[in-house]
Amino acid sequence: MAVFLSNLRFVAWTALAVGVLFLIYFAVGVGSWDFGTQVFWEALLRWSHVLVGIMWIGHLYYFNFTQIPNMPKIPDEQKPAVTKVIAPAALYWFRWGAMATLITGLLLAWNQNYLFQALTLGGASDPSFAAPKEILIGIGMWLAIIMWFNVWFIIWPNQQKALNINNKYPDLDAAAKAAAGKTAMLFSRTNTFLSVPMLVAMTGASTLF
Ligand code: HEM
Repeated sequence: MAVFLSNLRFVAWTALAVGVLFLIYFAVGVGSWDFGTQVFWEALLRWSHVLVGIMWIGHLYYFNFTQIPNMPKIPDEQKPAVTKVIAPAALYWFRWGAMATLITGLLLAWNQNYLFQALTLGGASDPSFAAPKEILIGIGMWLAIIMWFNVWFIIWPNQQKALNINNKYPDLDAAAKAAAGKTAMLFSRTNTFLSVPMLVAMTGASTLF
């Protein structure tokens, strides 16, 4: 068992396989939905959407609640362990988690035939007939899309400068690096703020309507 648990790749792929089999058992075996049906894909997409959403927001909270507040307590000579090793690795799962969450979220809305109604907050159909669910999930989707934009177009480019990831900015001076780090931190904090109402809309849409 220790051999299995010591290998992250093994654990991750096996967990995914067990998750898919579990879902198929419930969807096809217990729920009697065929593989191709809309509701089967809805179950698969909803599960994978929440899974990759955890990957994204988990790393966002790691940066904001663990890494950033504790950096000042680390002696300068030990800081590169975080800035050169831990942070670049965390940023990898963070930004690709964000991308996968966006894709699965859009597919989930498309699968349920309300993608455009939600993105226009009900405006794609007659606004006076807009369903409250489409408006609420639409607000959540826009908040999360703003967060995704911040990750890919503000936080990641600025972190590349601040940490000189992959030696992309070898000649940047200390002041420019500090400014880039500050911008990344402020937008990361903005995303932490937005994640709270965003999740009310995400979870509330299927609870309330
Ligand atoms: C990036 C853009 C995102 C889009 C386009 C999106 C889209 C959606 C859609 C369409 C639903 C289905 C709502 C329903 O009909 O019940 C949903 C549900 C949900 N989303 Fe997102 N989402 C995004 C980001 C996120 C993020 C960052 C998280 C954080 C973990 C998240 C967590 C959830 C959860 C927990 C649900 C509820 C699932 C359920 O009630 O069964 N989403 N999302």
